[in-house]
Amino acid sequence: MEIREIDQADESLVHRHWEIGRDAEAACRPYDFYPQWETAWTTYQVGREDIRFVLLGAFDGDTMVGAGRTDLNLLDNLHSASSVIFVDPARQRQGFGRALDAACVEVTRAAGRRLLMTEAYAPPGGDSPGVLFARSMGYVAGIEDGMKVVDLIETEPTWAALEAKAAASRGDYRVITWRDHVPEEYVDDYCALCEAFFDEAPIGEMEIEPERWDRKRVEEREARNLRTGRRELSAGAISPDGRMVAVTELMVNERITTRGFQSGTLVSRDHRGHQLGLAIKLANHRQARAAYPDLRILLTGNADVNAPMNAVNDALGYREVERCVEMQKAV
Ligand SMILES: CC(C)(COP(=O)(O)OP(=O)(O)OC[C@H]1O[C@@H](n2cnc3c(N)ncnc32)[C@H](O)[C@@H]1OP(=O)(O)O)[C@@H](O)C(=O)NCCC(=O)NCCS
Repeated sequence: MEIREIDQADESLVHRHWEIGRDAEAACRPYDFYPQWETAWTTYQVGREDIRFVLLGAFDGDTMVGAGRTDLNLLDNLHSASSVIFVDPARQRQGFGRALDAACVEVTRAAGRRLLMTEAYAPPGGDSPGVLFARSMGYVAGIEDGMKVVDLIETEPTWAALEAKAAASRGDYRVITWRDHVPEEYVDDYCALCEAFFDEAPIGEMEIEPERWDRKRVEEREARNLRTGRRELSAGAISPDGRMVAVTELMVNERITTRGFQSGTLVSRDHRGHQLGLAIKLANHRQARAAYPDLRILLTGNADVNAPMNAVNDALGYREVERCVEMQKAV
């Protein structure tokens, strides 16, 4: 067994690295949300302004059988790194995962960082090889998220009644939607919401620092998403005095438009109590159905302790299909 760093310009090695992750996830997760090959390859070729990736392969002779990746944040959270490890399902329990974890720890230390984070998925109410492995490697759980899916086509008949309910308490707030680019006049408000997210969304024991957002970071992310085929659909709420005070975002990869990922939703603290969370998510569901008529399944994750978000998601018909355990260890 040998652990080697993978040259990110070597297409056949990077493809094998990607494929091991795809097969390992397919063996243990109920829905396929693994990144598309073209998206992953473009990301590695162009690189990212905010993260440096280190790809590691576990080899048995010339055959790569395990794939690890350590992500080093470059703009904030410089005390930490995060890693993900996959082993070919046919080669698990032979020590490849352990060797990859040791290599990820080395990468983290060499970058001068003191904390390594990872996340592992498991069925609701149960453990999984990933969770048992991470625990055995010394990671400690910091927070658990329920991973939920909603079927947009099945739930669409319920939206009109929910919209009426949300509209009844909206007052003078307005709901807007956009795609791929945050409307120019709201970029500063949008950055403030992105930063507030880290104060507002529960992070449990995870040692995560708030991110800093500015116009440049927003534009870089928009360009990166378009380059890699990721299309963003968003909705926001505008307060009576013209500020954007709530946002929700989902991502659909143009190469596989039957599924999407619902990422952050935030209603600014002073503007809660008007059903804006429900209103903007509904508006975004409508936008998503119109833009991608074959889009059926959205996946999202929420901390169990996030009662308001869970209430909105329950109303929209999300149901828990797995759990994500976020873990960390000092290195
Ligand atoms: C998690 C994963 C990477 C483990 O890889 P692996 O090569 O099988 O792990 P190792 O053989 O090095 O196991 C190291 C230790 O982890 C624990 N472990 C690993 N798999 C386990 C399982 N299925 N059940 C119980 N313990 C397990 C054991 O303590 C094991 O030591 P032991 O074999 O001496 O008892 C692999 O199962 C996988 O790819 N899973 C899907 C992706 C994932 O969940 N990754 C984890 C998030 S980083």
